[in-house]
Amino acid sequence: MTVSAPHFAAQAGTGAARRRILVTSALPYANGQIHLGHMVEFIQTDVWVRAMRMHGHEVHYVGADDTHGTPIMLSAEKEGITPKQLIERVCREHTRDLGNFLISFDNYYSTDSEENKTLCETIYGKLEQAGLIDAREIEQAYDPVKEMFLPDRFIKGECPKCGAKDQYGDSCEVCGSTYQPTDLVNPYSAISGATPVRRKSTHYFFKLSDARCENFLREWVSGLAQPEATNKMREWLGEAGDAKLGDWDISRDAPYFGFEIPGAPGKYFYVWLDAPVGYYASFKNLAAKRGFDFEEWIQPGTNTEQYHFIGKDILYFHTLFWPAMLEFAGYRTPTNVFAHGFLTVDGAKMSKSRGTFITANSFIETGLNPEWLRYYFAAKLNATMEDLDLNLDDFQARVNSDVVGKYVNIASRAAGFLIKRFEGRVQDSSMHHPLLATLRAAIPQIAAHYEAREYSRAVRQTMELADAVNGYVDTAKPWDQAKDPANASLLHETVSVSLEAFRLLSIALKPVLPALAAKVEAFLGVAPLAWADADTPLSSAQPINAYQHLMTRIDPKQIEALIEANRGSLQPTETGAAAAGTAAASPAASKTKPKTAPASDAQSEIISIDDFAKIDLRIALIVECKAVEGSDKLLQLTLDVGEEKTRNVFSGIKSAYRPEDLVGKLTVMVANLAPRKMKFGLSEGMVLAASSADEKAEPGLYILEPHSGAKPGMRVR
Ligand code: 2FM
Ligand code: ZN
Repeated sequence: MTVSAPHFAAQAGTGAARRRILVTSALPYANGQIHLGHMVEFIQTDVWVRAMRMHGHEVHYVGADDTHGTPIMLSAEKEGITPKQLIERVCREHTRDLGNFLISFDNYYSTDSEENKTLCETIYGKLEQAGLIDAREIEQAYDPVKEMFLPDRFIKGECPKCGAKDQYGDSCEVCGSTYQPTDLVNPYSAISGATPVRRKSTHYFFKLSDARCENFLREWVSGLAQPEATNKMREWLGEAGDAKLGDWDISRDAPYFGFEIPGAPGKYFYVWLDAPVGYYASFKNLAAKRGFDFEEWIQPGTNTEQYHFIGKDILYFHTLFWPAMLEFAGYRTPTNVFAHGFLTVDGAKMSKSRGTFITANSFIETGLNPEWLRYYFAAKLNATMEDLDLNLDDFQARVNSDVVGKYVNIASRAAGFLIKRFEGRVQDSSMHHPLLATLRAAIPQIAAHYEAREYSRAVRQTMELADAVNGYVDTAKPWDQAKDPANASLLHETVSVSLEAFRLLSIALKPVLPALAAKVEAFLGVAPLAWADADTPLSSAQPINAYQHLMTRIDPKQIEALIEANRGSLQPTETGAAAAGTAAASPAASKTKPKTAPASDAQSEIISIDDFAKIDLRIALIVECKAVEGSDKLLQLTLDVGEEKTRNVFSGIKSAYRPEDLVGKLTVMVANLAPRKMKFGLSEGMVLAASSADEKAEPGLYILEPHSGAKPGMRVR
């Protein structure tokens, strides 16, 4: 049987020129886990990229880990590994998380790459040739013990306004006032605890204050898509003649993990110089792999487009420094920069104690479907910089009612009848039904909403159409039609229209739900859906396949488990621009905020020697050791700490030691810890053990053991 499919006039995605587009998401720091704050941006970018690919455009989506800078150097040191080891491990974790959330990077790379080094050197060389680099001596805080200059975030002290202790060098978390690190009372290095001294050093500056830069930026700003971004830029630029732009300090002194500046031994490019260049490094690496001409994409006057998706906290770097660097190095400048707001969870900043600092990996490990989150974020995202709230009750309700209740439900209601009664073949004449014409006409509008980054509109319109389809089914009542053989043709029409409507809704949701769309394509027996396919309806020539369940509902227990999994989870070690942005010339640059909760210091809080002296650490001999009935974590230790009586201590080290292997060993215990009544008895102290900061990635527990010669009861200090 040959049946020709009806043809509809092209409405979506045909006829337009094939655009060539480079897209990026901001590069996450290589010392923290990907969390849902990052996922807002990755999902936002990925939806856009997929929507543009569905037009048939040539789209390259590249990313990388942002690997350089002081916080990463110090994190590695704290873990006792090299920065390269740290960034390799974190890159594997990031790649895993991004893959799990279906983020369709064409290339995910690292800023610590040969391509990036060469590009940074080239750009710097060209800026130097253009007379836009200046070397100047500046004075900065220096840690005489650690022997390094201190970024602002690594200087702490008492707030000059309210006297609160242990405040950072830029703002007080108690009274909210902002100030310079030099204003802190009794400042100390958050790394060594030493009092910082002032020390001079030569730094290299990008002369953003040069009239050429200012003039260029004034012109460039007019092309920005977001009015909020344009306003910010105008605020930073001031009126002509205001000379508000300061020069940008682009060098850091050794020790620093980054690229050494050519001709300036011991001086390194500041991480924020090499990070955006990392976009191009990743793209260059991709071009080499795929065999296209990278250089052609970055020449001025190229017909290609370049978009950067970022958080509003790093607008400054992307709308001032980066375009100016590109312009005066003789390259093309970004077509646009799209900034989004921050993520809150249940109306508040993500919080470790509430369990709302949710890592991407915990989401997957708890068994939640990443497409649920993609849908929820898309349903709330728009083109502005407004913050986005993940309301966990609303998340469940919306996904369950929209995706499962409204959309998937259409297929599950129609597929059975079509397969059982009509060999899985649609009725071709039904493809002209007015309801389908309405849906088809809406597809180009929905595609346009995606392109304009108005995803919430795209999703709303799609769900309104789903409501209309469900209304049609409810009115037609296929379950009644099926009872009377005389109604066979009517039933055929109802389920054919339903399934074609479902196919059209699947096109509309494909940028958001790509894995679900792939299942739908297999079920309908159609090629990967694109916008233009709105006009090629299902055909009786191609029977559908057996319906497999497409998506389950969210079970509230899964949300509880997610919160539990994240309660008390480590704060990210990510320290953001605020941490690394030591001497950015503009005050605005140092005011950048982390994407979610305030970034925590990579180091623990500093305590005084008096604080330390309060802890009575003693050498303890393990006299006896046995398993604890009813506990799979604890061992019961009998310890001799040189007192008349032995101590009884329960310790959570069963996973690492067999009891018999510990008997007769020396270890270290906290002897003045308040006794704790446990289910199994009284615990009179605590033995010390080492473990990795990320126990999931690197399991292992190691109790401390003194060098030979130590005796039970000796004090450790
Ligand atoms: O703010 C951040 O998380 C930075 N790592 C973003 C860098 S984006 C680009 F410039 F590389
Ligand atoms: Zn204060």
